[in-house]
Amino acid sequence: MHCTKKITSDMTWVGADDRRLAFFEGVYGVPNGVSYNSYLICDEKTILFDTVDKAVAHNFFDNVAYALDGRKLDYLVISHMEPDHAATIEDIALRYPEATIICNAKIQAMLGRFFPTDLSGRIQLVKEGDTLSTGRHVFTFVMAPMVHWPEVMMTYDTTDKILFSADAFGSFGALNGRIFADEVDFMHDWLDEARRYYTNIVGKYGAQVQAVLRKAAALEINYVCPLHSFVWRRDFGAFLEKYLKWSSYEPEEKGVMIAYASVYGHTENAANILAAKLSDRGVKVQMYDTSVTASSFILSDAFKYSHLVFAATTYNAGMFSTMEHLLHEITEHNLQKRKIALIENGSWAPMSGKLMRELLSTLKGVEFVGETLTVNSALTEGQLGDLDALADELAKSVAE
Ligand code: FEO
Repeated sequence: MHCTKKITSDMTWVGADDRRLAFFEGVYGVPNGVSYNSYLICDEKTILFDTVDKAVAHNFFDNVAYALDGRKLDYLVISHMEPDHAATIEDIALRYPEATIICNAKIQAMLGRFFPTDLSGRIQLVKEGDTLSTGRHVFTFVMAPMVHWPEVMMTYDTTDKILFSADAFGSFGALNGRIFADEVDFMHDWLDEARRYYTNIVGKYGAQVQAVLRKAAALEINYVCPLHSFVWRRDFGAFLEKYLKWSSYEPEEKGVMIAYASVYGHTENAANILAAKLSDRGVKVQMYDTSVTASSFILSDAFKYSHLVFAATTYNAGMFSTMEHLLHEITEHNLQKRKIALIENGSWAPMSGKLMRELLSTLKGVEFVGETLTVNSALTEGQLGDLDALADELAKSVAE
């Protein structure tokens, strides 16, 4: 049975929520589910924007058939070939054999790689600035390469001022019956998941996101329709502001995120004492145990906070594996412009500080605060003064 949402008088959301997915892209836990968005406009011609993941294919087919209300599908626009949106393209093409596929040349090439059915005879290629009319609506196409795949494009409806923004402005989390961001307290209840989605999925490509944001700035926009999560129809500015920050790698908040990797609790103890001393100095602190919290959550807060402290024990002559994984995630996602302090532990040959510094030194705009604090097995009474000094330096730097 269909489950659709009306967005405008002639546009319907025909996507679906998925709450059974454990790991988005096989790696990012989604405890609150995820939505796959698809939009149908019934104009003189009918036009469908993207499809959905195969997990929700049958809900989607029911929704499209209901929203079409017996009409044929004239156009299918493909914005992005990642299978969470593209898996059901072939099925839709077979169900609606008269539909013309609107896509760019890179998408066309990928279609041939993903699907055995030859769809090439049904494709109408578009490039930057091309337009398509369905009657009342006139659409123009905006290329968005590497946001976050090379073939990505957005569509702008010049009639109702709708931006179909592909993965940009999405979030983890199922819609749970809502469709508009203003139906929830997005900035309070959803921003953390939106940040985790952005930083983990798109975070590496800040320069490309900035390029698209510059293009979008020239448009009058009444609705933003992403491929995941809510449609925006008001108060978009605050969320856009976050995107400007995230994509330029500027921290959102002054504060210290402490992530530690501790085997028997001594490294954790040093991290806890530092956190207490920072709090005494009025600094906001967020802590994570890298053995407990998945790196996607910690990466997200590394994008949020201005200062980062990493504390890790030495293990097998390297750094403890959960910290190594986190730091690789952080470097691979291109984080920049952070102030970083390090604490290492090692009972006979501490190495983790040197290795963490080497890895983090590859990030652009990183500055280290203080010297690496070395714990040999357990913190000594005499080292409390060293932690005081580190807390002083961090507090001073946060206040600057
Ligand atoms: Fe939601 Fe890049 O796919």
